Amino acid sequence: MKRKEFLTDPYARLAMRSGIVARSYYKLKELDERYQLITAGDKLLELGAHPGGWLQYLAHKTNGNLNVVALDQKPVKNITSYAFKNVQFIVRDILTLPQEHFHSTLGVKFSGVLSDLAPQTSGIRDRDAMLSYELVEKALLIAKNTLVTGGFFLGKSYFSEELHEIKATYCQLFKKFTIVKLKATRSRSREVYLLARGFIPNTSK
Ligand SMILES: C[S@@+](CC[C@H](N)C(=O)[O-])C[C@H]1O[C@@H](n2cnc3c(N)ncnc32)[C@H](O)[C@@H]1O
Repeated sequence: MKRKEFLTDPYARLAMRSGIVARSYYKLKELDERYQLITAGDKLLELGAHPGGWLQYLAHKTNGNLNVVALDQKPVKNITSYAFKNVQFIVRDILTLPQEHFHSTLGVKFSGVLSDLAPQTSGIRDRDAMLSYELVEKALLIAKNTLVTGGFFLGKSYFSEELHEIKATYCQLFKKFTIVKLKATRSRSREVYLLARGFIPNTSK
């Protein structure tokens, strides 16, 4: 964490003081407190899990009573220290993962798919937005193949007016769809979360 960030960002300061690995912890906490997403015993798929802030929140919220499959192109250090009942980590580039991967290799269905995937930003707005959409689209594709009926999808995205055009796609697949801007997101950031609840599998084919 940069010194300037530590001085100016209350979430970064709080994370450092509380032994939290990433300030993103507070984003999932805020989402969960607002929408009651996480329950002990859930089976979750987390995409973009490095360095482990969301895993830490999930472990704290449920005392480790969760089954989690976590994926990132970078490993999470000390994954076993999160003390989940059952945790599996996959180190892969999600964009090269075959669509059927989760079906065929894990054979499980998840109650929630959470994606905090984010590209390395370049500062070029259109390029960053395009890469971000590509990641959230891939995450949604995986969610469509792996969610239980009624499950939820949470995906990080880059805000633009075009986002409202994708609403129809999500509303065919889920009962509820919301675009959420968080307090814990830095004010200069264009980041939003797409939250879709109540998965309807039949219309997803
Ligand atoms: C904002 S960070 C995730 C933070 C994490 N949720 C946490 O709380 O610690 C975004 C992550 O997306 C991952 N990522 C970006 N593109 C990816 C890809 N194509 N495949 C797998 N992981 C990717 C990055 O490696 C990075 O760790």
